[in-house]
Amino acid sequence: MTTQSNTDRVYIFDTTLRDGEQSPGATMTLEEKLQVAEILDTMGVDIIEAGFPIASNGDFEAVATIAKRAKNAVICGLARAISADIDRAGEAVRFAKRGRIHTFVSTSPIHLAHQMKKTEDEVLEIVTRTVTQARNLIDDVEWSGMDATRTPVEFLARCTEAAIKAGATTINIPDTVGYSTPEDYYALIKTLIEMVPNSDQAIFSTHCHNDLGMAVANSLAGVRAGARQVECTINGIGERAGNAALEEVVMALKTRVDALPFHTAIESTSLSRASKVVSAAANFPVQYNKAIVGKNAFAHESGIHQDGMLKNALTYEIMTPESVGIKSTSLVMGKHSGRHAFKQKLADLGYELADNQFQEAFQRFKDLADRKKNVYDDDIIALVDDEMGSGADRIRLVDMSVMSKTGGIHRCELKVSVDGAPVEVSFDGTGSVDAIFSAIKEAVGAHPHLVLYAVDGVTGGTDAQANAHVRLELNGRIASGNATEPDTLVASARAYLNAYNRLLVERGAPAQGALAG
Ligand code: KIV
Ligand code: ZN
Repeated sequence: MTTQSNTDRVYIFDTTLRDGEQSPGATMTLEEKLQVAEILDTMGVDIIEAGFPIASNGDFEAVATIAKRAKNAVICGLARAISADIDRAGEAVRFAKRGRIHTFVSTSPIHLAHQMKKTEDEVLEIVTRTVTQARNLIDDVEWSGMDATRTPVEFLARCTEAAIKAGATTINIPDTVGYSTPEDYYALIKTLIEMVPNSDQAIFSTHCHNDLGMAVANSLAGVRAGARQVECTINGIGERAGNAALEEVVMALKTRVDALPFHTAIESTSLSRASKVVSAAANFPVQYNKAIVGKNAFAHESGIHQDGMLKNALTYEIMTPESVGIKSTSLVMGKHSGRHAFKQKLADLGYELADNQFQEAFQRFKDLADRKKNVYDDDIIALVDDEMGSGADRIRLVDMSVMSKTGGIHRCELKVSVDGAPVEVSFDGTGSVDAIFSAIKEAVGAHPHLVLYAVDGVTGGTDAQANAHVRLELNGRIASGNATEPDTLVASARAYLNAYNRLLVERGAPAQGALAG
C-alpha cells in the first residue's frame, strides 16, 4: 500500500509568519507580512502558516489578506484548543483557495500538571472535541501535541489516534523545547507511525526548535522515519533559539539526495532573496556564518581554499552560490543611470514597488550615487529594504548634527517630526551614539531600554553604506529597527527611530510621550 510515509515528496510548511514572528523583536507590519507571504507563495512553499488569528485584529487581518492573495500555497491559521480560537482561525482562512486550521494542545506530563491542570483523559476528550469542531469548518485540519517529545509515547499515540479519528489530516509532533536528539526524534516518529492504527490516514509532520542546535538534524531524522511535512522558518527565526531553518532543510535534501532520497517543491534559487526579505521585514540580521544564506556561506578566505577553488570549484564547494540564488556582486549603476535602468535593476533583484515607493527609492539611489562611486546590487537591496521598512514611521528624522571631541563634549542637536509636528532638542552624551539615542528619547518623551545595537557595512570599502540594527525593550515588549545610510550616525539614529516606531505600532498609541513609564 502507498501511504504518505513511503512516497519521497516532502511538504514544506513555513511558519515564519507565526512561530518566526513570535520571536522577540521580530514583529512585522501587515505590509511586511504580505511581502514575506508573496515570496513564500511563489517559491514553492506548500503551506504558509500566516498567523494566529485570535491573537489580535492585526493577526486576523494578516491571515485573511494572505488567504485572499495566495495563488498556490495552502494558508493556515493557528488555534489553541479553544472553541473561539478555532472559529476565528476558520473565519480567517475561509478566503483561501485552500485553507487549513492548525489546532494544538499540550500533551506532556509537565504541561498537563503545571500549565493545564488536566488529566490525560480530559486531554483526549479535548483532542476529539477540537479537531471535530475544526473539521466541521474545513477539510484540512492539522493537530499538534505540544511538547510531544517529552510526552510518553503511549499517550501521544492515543492522542494521535483520536485526532485522526476526529478528522485530522496532518499530525504534527513538535519538539517544543528543542530537547530531542536525531536518534530520539527518529524513534519517536517511527514508533508513532507503527503504533497508531490509523496512521496511514494522515501525514506526519516535524516541528523542531533549535535550543540545542539540532532542529534541522532532528527534522531530517523525522523525514527518514516517515514524516512528510517539515515545519520550518526562513533564516530559522522563531521562539528562543528559533525553528529549523527552511533553507537548510531544503538544501540538505537537495545536496545529499544520495543519503536523503526525498524532494521538495521549493525553487532553491529563491532562498537568498527570501532570506533577505525576511531579515529586512523582521529586522533580524542574519549571522555571517549562517549556513546557505549567511554573508560568508560561500566565501573562501584561506589561501589553500582559494587556490583549490581557482583550480576547480568542486574542491571546496558542495553546492554553488547560484543554486541558492546568489549572483556574483556586480557593479551596477552610477549617477548617470536613469529611471528605466533603475526599474529594470529592481525587477532583476526581484522587487516590484508601488509608484510612490519607486519614486522615493529612485531619489535615494540618485543621492547615494552622487556620494558613492560604486553602487552595487547589495547597496540597492539595502536601500530598497530600508525604504519599504520605514514607510509607515510616525516619528521621522528631519535633521541632525553631531559634534564629538576626543576627551571633550559629544553633543547631538536633533530635529524630528512626530506625527508631522516638529520637535527640536539638544543632548550631551558620553559618546556620539549615546548623545543621539538620548536626544531621541528626550524628543519623544519615553525611555525604552537598548537591548542591541550593531552596525555593519553593506559592502566593503570605507565609502560603504552603514547598516544599523537597534533592538529596544519597554515594559516587556521588544521591537527591532533597521536603517541603511551612507553615514553611520545617521543610520544609527534612523534605526533607533525605526525600532521606536515599531513599539508604537504594536501599542497603537499616540506618538509623543506614548511610551513613557
Ligand atoms: O513549538 C510548538 O510546540 C508550537 C506549536 C504551537 C505547534 O509552535
Ligand atoms: Zn514552535
